[in-house]
Amino acid sequence: MSGTKKRFSHELLERNIGLLIFFSILVVSFSGLVQIIPLFYQHSTTTPIEGVAPYESLRLVGRDIYIREGCVGCHSQQIRQLQSEVQRYGPYSVAGESVYDHPFLWGSKRTGPDLARVGQRYSDEWHRIHLRNPRDVVKESNMPAYPWLQHNTVEGADVQDRMKVLRTLGVPYTDADIEAAPQALVGKTEEDAVVAYLQGLGVASRAAAEAIMQAGGEH
Ligand code: HEC
Repeated sequence: MSGTKKRFSHELLERNIGLLIFFSILVVSFSGLVQIIPLFYQHSTTTPIEGVAPYESLRLVGRDIYIREGCVGCHSQQIRQLQSEVQRYGPYSVAGESVYDHPFLWGSKRTGPDLARVGQRYSDEWHRIHLRNPRDVVKESNMPAYPWLQHNTVEGADVQDRMKVLRTLGVPYTDADIEAAPQALVGKTEEDAVVAYLQGLGVASRAAAEAIMQAGGEH
């Protein structure tokens, strides 16, 4: 009987480019989903670690300015699990710290240093001088200056709408939070908002991240 009955064989795939493409896509898609889907349900990626709270309104607006100005193109916010990174930046980043970040700003390019734990490392005044002209504090810096931030006001920004959208994505803003949000923007500039955003980065969650690191990544 050998040779008379046509069986499904690998040879068939190798000789038929259409089938080969179809099955390759099928296999890659399936294996991709197997890796991605569990992350939507895992405790460690969906639950904030201690200290992580939704961004208050001034910091939320600051974060949007950070996105608008393309800071993420030069700065990552993701400390990797390498000795050299931990020594330089602090406890490595864990997924539970980014639960309220939509979109994530982990970044993939480090022209400048990682900013995941830059909060409280410098004074507000340092940040203001640095944002207006980085060369005034770091002589050899090639970071662009952002002098307009100090002149643009954020009062009246559509912060309530932004918070409502984030709420549909799972960020637990209460009605009271949204109600009170515009008040925190009164008299504030874009520079105030960016500095507030930077000064909070990685601060409240630092102790919990450190504990997770000491425990070898388990939580
Ligand atoms: C073209 C690349 C580039 C862009 C865009 C950029 N930076 Fe930088 N940034 C750097 C470099 C390089 C340094 C290191 C030298 C220095 O401190 O100025 C730096 C340093 C910093 C530091 C100090 C970090 C530390 O640990 O010392 C902060 C904070 C910072 N940048 C914030 C920002 C913000 C906010 C924006 C967007 C408004 C931004 N950067 C845009 C390149 C960039």
